[in-house]
Amino acid sequence: MSSFIVPKKQWLSTQFLTARAASVGGGLNGYSGKRLSPFWARNAIFHGLSFLKVSPGDRVLVPSYICRAAVEPIVSYGANVDFYRVDRNCRLDFEDIVSKITSSTKALLAVHYFGFPQEMGRVQALCRQHRIFLIEDCAHVLEGHSEGKPLGSFGDISVFSWKKFLPVYDGADLLLNNVAVEPTISWEREKSLFTIKVAKNLIEDASGWSTGQVLGSFARLLQECKSQPVTAGASAFTVTTDTDSFDPSLIRWSMSRLSRWVKAHSDVPAIVQARRSHYRYLQDRLMKIPGVSLLHSCLPDGVCPWILPLVFDGITDAHLALRRMGIPAVTWGGVRPASMRSEDYPDAHFLYDNLVFLPVHQSLTKSDLDVMVETVSKIK
Ligand SMILES: Cc1ncc(COP(=O)(O)O)c(C=O)c1O
Repeated sequence: MSSFIVPKKQWLSTQFLTARAASVGGGLNGYSGKRLSPFWARNAIFHGLSFLKVSPGDRVLVPSYICRAAVEPIVSYGANVDFYRVDRNCRLDFEDIVSKITSSTKALLAVHYFGFPQEMGRVQALCRQHRIFLIEDCAHVLEGHSEGKPLGSFGDISVFSWKKFLPVYDGADLLLNNVAVEPTISWEREKSLFTIKVAKNLIEDASGWSTGQVLGSFARLLQECKSQPVTAGASAFTVTTDTDSFDPSLIRWSMSRLSRWVKAHSDVPAIVQARRSHYRYLQDRLMKIPGVSLLHSCLPDGVCPWILPLVFDGITDAHLALRRMGIPAVTWGGVRPASMRSEDYPDAHFLYDNLVFLPVHQSLTKSDLDVMVETVSKIK
């Protein structure tokens, strides 16, 4: 049982489902390029390196403020990671990037933190000038644009992580915008036991199960499972997506069938609207609380926020106090990559310790938002 008084993540509800299946992805509806849908975005990064023909021993530039789930696949692949600076506003330090490029550097990974776009034209130009690949990390993006182009269309490859936005157990997209090879992965067949586990997880989280259509689809899937031999190994039931580690034994797992169904039937415009409206509601009130600074004091058109990032002036690890009071706030303090020397990246170090994420997901109610505002105002 959760000890939070505000729900941590979105759940499946008919309010955010559509009858007709559609494709979701970075404003890339109707994207006609090469797309693969692995189990996780971290797996997409791993496979992406091989499609880009990065060799073990090559170097990849990665921002110093990052979740280790994005770094571990690069290390596991055998490439060397070099970190570059980002400032306290999560903007890339272009000078530092250029100073770190060597003849062994093959790729640069850039993150649209929390759904807010980076200056992608400039990043793309830099990569082209230095003949290195651009990995566009859209793990925090549901949809969005930068300089008139959809996020996800700038990178030589781009990765998305759906469980941050949709009520899915797993799932990612790997878009291959500029790879010479025909990308194939020999996927493992999804085990029946795993499908049941995903279903159980969705039902446990779900509300609004009155629609016959949704139940009907579930019933069909479970029927299909019953007709398959149960060949599952132990991992089918023990695997969890609630971890920030990279597990090489799962790289041939694709996005589960149920998660694909939910993704295809998600009402993306309604989700974007709800998240934007929650962000704005919180923004208007939190900005008035003394000692609270928002990373972004305005929400640009077209941005779908993953979370709302804020800092409590002079208070480190404020998320711990918020969690004790029932708010599912987090920081990236616990997921900083092991190989990063914090003293070399003081601004990133500051962000790991001070940048607190508040939920803005579509399943929140007005009263949840009010509780968050009230609790934030009590942090001293
Ligand atoms: C910037 C970034 N990239 C990649 C990932 C990995 O996403 P996934 O959990 O789908 O593997 C994360 C996870 O939090 C992330 O924050």
